[in-house]
Amino acid sequence: MNADPNTHMDPWQTTGRIGLWLLGARGSIGVTTAVGIAAISHGLADLTGCVTATLELADLDLLAPDRLVLGGHDITMTPVQARAEQLAASGMLPTAAVTSAGADLDRFEAEIRPGVTGHDSHPQATIVDRLAGDIADFRTRHQLDRVVVVDLSSTEPLPEDRPEFHDSQLLTEALADAQRAPLPPSSLYALAAIRTGSPLACFTPSASLGLPVLQALAREQIPYAGQDGKTGQTLLRTALAPTLTRRGFRVLSWAGANVLGGGDGATLADPHAVSSKLTSKNRGLRALVGDHVVTPLHIDNVPDLGDIKTAWDHIHAEGFLGSRITLQTTWTAYDSMLAAPLVIDLVRLLDLADRTGPVARSVSWASSSRTPGARMSTTMRSRPNSSMAGPGSSPPPTVGSPDDRPGGALPRRPARAHQRPGEGQGHRRAAAGARGVQRHR
Ligand SMILES: NC(=O)c1ccc[n+]([C@@H]2O[C@H](COP(=O)([O-])OP(=O)(O)OC[C@H]3O[C@@H](n4cnc5c(N)ncnc54)[C@H](O)[C@@H]3O)[C@@H](O)[C@H]2O)c1
Repeated sequence: MNADPNTHMDPWQTTGRIGLWLLGARGSIGVTTAVGIAAISHGLADLTGCVTATLELADLDLLAPDRLVLGGHDITMTPVQARAEQLAASGMLPTAAVTSAGADLDRFEAEIRPGVTGHDSHPQATIVDRLAGDIADFRTRHQLDRVVVVDLSSTEPLPEDRPEFHDSQLLTEALADAQRAPLPPSSLYALAAIRTGSPLACFTPSASLGLPVLQALAREQIPYAGQDGKTGQTLLRTALAPTLTRRGFRVLSWAGANVLGGGDGATLADPHAVSSKLTSKNRGLRALVGDHVVTPLHIDNVPDLGDIKTAWDHIHAEGFLGSRITLQTTWTAYDSMLAAPLVIDLVRLLDLADRTGPVARSVSWASSSRTPGARMSTTMRSRPNSSMAGPGSSPPPTVGSPDDRPGGALPRRPARAHQRPGEGQGHRRAAAGARGVQRHR
């Protein structure tokens, strides 16, 4: 950990403080992000690993990490301090960083509220009210300019498609009915983010904003990014695939395997949860090399590896006169140490997008989401999750006139007391811009 004075952030770059609300706050990435932000704020670490610290983005008016106030939702009771100590004992987090972050982690822990599971007996509209209330209360108590929500919770199984995902009226009715629970937890959190006007990044393969009806709502109201961070194997694939295809080689197969432990490894041992992850990973690769390519992929939970993940790829391609080309890669890293700096990037970019409304520049960023064609940009748009809104599915519906009554219709971003002139219509304009040509630097 070296504090490089050249990358020190000027705390006066932005006005006010910004909330970072983490879903899955007590998980490996959540805690690693909190320890990292504390270390950067104390001058013990720099932004190595953050895309926003690269020269390409150096001129953007991005918030300094020491302006962030952390809170979140989780369903586990293991406190962040205990989790941080576990991660230090496993060799991932530097012990000195965890020790110096003690008071920051205590403050973070005090701002974590109970999350939601798929087994809550209340109408889902009431659950959204509670989740949104937690975020709004956090923003008010700390006098935050805005709260950026990042979903770092465990990967959910993808839900079966249903009519409520395509029709706001049907969804509103279902949300009010205690006997029905149409939305997975990630989408309840997404509605709470929209309700409170909070930018949202979904770092997981879960449904979240990928449902067409939520996608349509979000497009009008908040900057958002997703789905599923590309941190290791998929980052490498994103770089290698265009290299091979642009060189004119014909990729025939791309076989992959992953071994990992930790909380993510345990979650992905569940066949339903792992199918979300496999779908997400393969979607990204196939978008690059074509659907005809054979792409078997395995993810295995190996608990003794803890948070170290190793990923292997075997690529088979055909060259001149049918000659055979093979390439084998091995990538080993602490997964959460790859993810946490991207979470810091996401909050900085989403804060900028929310502050400035439409920003015409987009950044070709290899470590963006796995959603094909999506680019992390300062307008932070993603295409709908293709597993639910891809070719063949219904187009996003026209959303009527939702209001913000507790338990009522789908949310409309509230006007904020400190909203500047022109702010608030920005995302409508940003959405229009995002559908147009993206200009690259
Ligand atoms: N490099 C990476 O680590 C990487 C890359 C891409 C995506 N992801 C995704 O990020 C997510 C987090 O990874 P992790 O290693 O921190 O996992 P983790 O298991 O350590 O943490 C997940 C946290 O989410 C909490 N959680 C589960 N269900 C919840 C709910 N309904 N509401 C609120 N909290 C809930 C858990 O209690 C846990 O604290 C996973 O979905 C993973 O697939 C990780």
